[in-house]
Amino acid sequence: MRVFIVKDYEELSVQAAQIVAGQIYVKPNSVLGLATGSTPLLMYHHLIRIYKEYGLDFSEVTTFNLDEYVGLPEADKNSYHYYMNDNFFRHVNLDQKKIHLPDGMAASVDAECLAYEKAIQNCGGIDLQVLGIGQNGHIGFNEPDEKFEAYTHEVKLKQDTIEANARFFADISEVPTRAISMGIKTIMQAKKVVLLANGSNKAEAVYRAVCEGITPEIPASILQLHQDVIVIIEEGAAQYL
Ligand code: GLP
Repeated sequence: MRVFIVKDYEELSVQAAQIVAGQIYVKPNSVLGLATGSTPLLMYHHLIRIYKEYGLDFSEVTTFNLDEYVGLPEADKNSYHYYMNDNFFRHVNLDQKKIHLPDGMAASVDAECLAYEKAIQNCGGIDLQVLGIGQNGHIGFNEPDEKFEAYTHEVKLKQDTIEANARFFADISEVPTRAISMGIKTIMQAKKVVLLANGSNKAEAVYRAVCEGITPEIPASILQLHQDVIVIIEEGAAQYL
């Protein structure tokens, strides 16, 4: 793991955007693994800026998002489809056909998980995976567990995750209780990983993921075994390091 502590959210976001931009510059047909949540928002903003100011070309890029809620249609403002379209996709020249998110409305969630995993493999795997981290150490929606779940799967969300994500919904009762998420192996097979952590509410999860033992109780801790991980941590999130 290469760990960088940066002074604020802006610096974290610029650094992350530059890593993504560099990846696309070197390999225009890169396969990107993308994350949602509040952490990568400003990174997307800077990627859009780089696209507009420097003509970064997304036309050959393929994207796979980490996860999606089960039961939210694409048009729902809280779906990750909506988030990605609103905050990133519609602002750059990505090819719609090369954009992938799990379908949270699929008739069979199991079949959707299998198909999603296969689609990633068919594209040759992920070149660069961007990750945030949950307060409980989750990555994607891989919640703390007794074992690491390997491939794309259906997740029952933990109460603390539901509470953490309730801020985006009118009422906590509206937060979906299930999601589809890439698995730990799916993420670990990415050639390069960038993990972003912002805010003091992430400090404990960051400490446990980076400094303590590898355990499925802190899913992000598995990244210690990955050969090419950059961790960018804003000072507040790095306070226990
Ligand atoms: C959600 C997402 C994760 C994200 C996490 C942290 O649960 N499934 O991919 O990393 O929340 O979100 P935030 O960046 O808003 O703190």
